Amino acid sequence: MDGEGPSGWGAPLYAAVLDATEVGPGTSVLDLGCGGGAFARAAADRGAAVIGIDTDPAAVARAAAAVPEGSFALGDARNPPPGPFDVVALVQLLMHVVDPAAVLSAAARAGAVVAVTVWGREQECDIRVFGAALAPWLGPRRPSSGPPPVTEPDRLRTIVADAGLAVTRLEEVVCAFEYADEDDLLGPLFESALGRTVGRRAGPVALRSAVLEAAQPYRTVAGGYRLENLFRVLVARPETPA
Ligand SMILES: C[S@@+](CC[C@H](N)C(=O)[O-])C[C@H]1O[C@@H](n2cnc3c(N)ncnc32)[C@H](O)[C@@H]1O
Repeated sequence: MDGEGPSGWGAPLYAAVLDATEVGPGTSVLDLGCGGGAFARAAADRGAAVIGIDTDPAAVARAAAAVPEGSFALGDARNPPPGPFDVVALVQLLMHVVDPAAVLSAAARAGAVVAVTVWGREQECDIRVFGAALAPWLGPRRPSSGPPPVTEPDRLRTIVADAGLAVTRLEEVVCAFEYADEDDLLGPLFESALGRTVGRRAGPVALRSAVLEAAQPYRTVAGGYRLENLFRVLVARPETPA
């Protein structure tokens, strides 16, 4: 698994970010919420000098191993190293932070260009089949009382603008999550906290059969599964350059 999906899923997303921000030899990149370093690896492969921070010590260690020429440290995206950096990347981070506005404001102070990626809306991502399969054991969803999620493009644009950033680009990228077979599809789910919870309620046999039935339309002729998910890449510049 690479962060949120099977190995290699993020390559088109990372390429879109690196192309849109013109990362090349010598570009300084600050990778906020670097995770295991998959994006940092792609940036370093283009010759960028990468610094990454993450709140998870295990992720920092994995990133350091994946990108030995980079520099990685434990840190909160609300308090990034001062920079200035040519590019500050928030790749699949914003959905996971309590205060996206504070993270974007900090990014705006640290970089000449800020790049953000987020999941598409639920209906734009085939991976929703997992949620649909698990739903009978999770009870009705409570309607959200807060603001729309950052996966809503209008909300994303608004919080980016409120952070003092001017949007220069917003594009869509489809990434395929490819699973070789049933075990490949089910393994990460059974290992996840949600999968374990539902597995205890439903029993592993019922859970397995519910997921396989929901994923049936995505079966490939080779016996694997291919789920296509949409992501958005937003690029912005600080209104007041660092
Ligand atoms: C979905 S992962 C994305 C990892 C990586 N950017 C990628 O695309 O593969 C989100 C990461 O954000 C980290 N994270 C969550 N909140 C954070 C924060 N406030 N500051 C820094 N990292 C944070 C998590 O530990 C996790 O590694």
